[in-house]
Amino acid sequence: MCLSFWLLKIHTMTNFPINKLKGLQTPLYYYDIELLKKTLNEVKEYQNKWGYHVHYAMKANANARLLEEIRKAGLGIDCVSGNEVQHAVNEGFDAKKIVYAGVGKADWEIKLALEAGIGCFNVESYPEAEVINEIAGSMNKIAKIALRINPNVDAHTHAYITTGLEENKFGIGLTEIESVVEKVKTLRNIELCGMHFHIGSQITDMGAFVALCIRVNELMHWMEAHHVDIKIVNVGGGLGIDYEHPDVADVPNFKEYFETFHKHLELRDGQELHFELGRAIVAQCGTLITKVLYVKEGRKKKFAIVDAGMNDLIRPALYHAYHKIENITSTEANEMYDVVGPVCESSDCFGQEVVLPKTKRGDIIAIRSAGAYGEVMASKYNLREFANKVYSI
Ligand code: LLP
Repeated sequence: MCLSFWLLKIHTMTNFPINKLKGLQTPLYYYDIELLKKTLNEVKEYQNKWGYHVHYAMKANANARLLEEIRKAGLGIDCVSGNEVQHAVNEGFDAKKIVYAGVGKADWEIKLALEAGIGCFNVESYPEAEVINEIAGSMNKIAKIALRINPNVDAHTHAYITTGLEENKFGIGLTEIESVVEKVKTLRNIELCGMHFHIGSQITDMGAFVALCIRVNELMHWMEAHHVDIKIVNVGGGLGIDYEHPDVADVPNFKEYFETFHKHLELRDGQELHFELGRAIVAQCGTLITKVLYVKEGRKKKFAIVDAGMNDLIRPALYHAYHKIENITSTEANEMYDVVGPVCESSDCFGQEVVLPKTKRGDIIAIRSAGAYGEVMASKYNLREFANKVYSI
């Protein structure tokens, strides 16, 4: 089936603006910039209402077009590598609004971040603080740091994206805090200004954040008792989105999220509350558009084989993550398909037993909620090319 034919069919059945897609090869990431703006407006509302500082977690999607909107909305940025710090600077983010986390910062990355003049390092261990101190000293600089504390709070999410439990590699354990704080106080090129936490990702149960607030409050008392001045409390990111209903819940429930912290956190006067949201900001604005190459009828199953693979969107293969799958060019009666990619791995499957209108070669499939941890986790596995990118405006 020729491209113009399926484009015509899309026009009649979805809101995807046909003109933006014309002549383009699938697979492609389609970004709804209007939805991103709407999402950012809601975040801004709470940022302004309570004076919060939101740093967008660039790891969720480092696409320059999206970053431009995020920067224009006035958000800061959370980076996890030297290259992300450099990318943030190149894309025009104010260095003071950059925070840099990561359990294994290399010396050149620390140096790059100090040269850029970033706002804060989220430090994950005492040995890391020592190295930052040494490098900052050699550059005649003072590095501002927040201690990343592992609060031992269960985020009740997928094991691979749980970070705040004792058995996870992240942060400083509760029993280590006292000795780390005492030693950090002696480092001359370090200014300890905050506490940082991040308990995991795709968290939909606000109870996990309430538990985090309770732990943060306890730690705040401890810091006061030990005369440590905490100017910044950074509670990380993690707010989940509704993968089942991308149209109804196109903007995540920021109200419930920010109100949870407003209600349960006992901030002291002058203390700043920082967030590092990634997924909640960009997930729903991205859709992976792919074309059906073949429909294969096995003895037990029917397979819709599409031209996007796990190299374009690895979440289903890596976490068994659910993404809503739609055939946007067929209106025939429903049937059941496994929607699979062309990569030579059985895990290259976007969904099993997916109910779709009768599907045939040339039909266009939309894999929804793919704006976060999609494009940015893509690879060239099987020497496949990266997917195209198309923007609504
Ligand atoms: N801050 C820190 C320190 C983080 O490690 C992360 C995510 C975030 C903020 C942003 O979390 P978010 O608001 O996006 O939940 N690839 C996985 C998610 C990995 C999350 C890693 N850390 C996925 O596709 O589900």
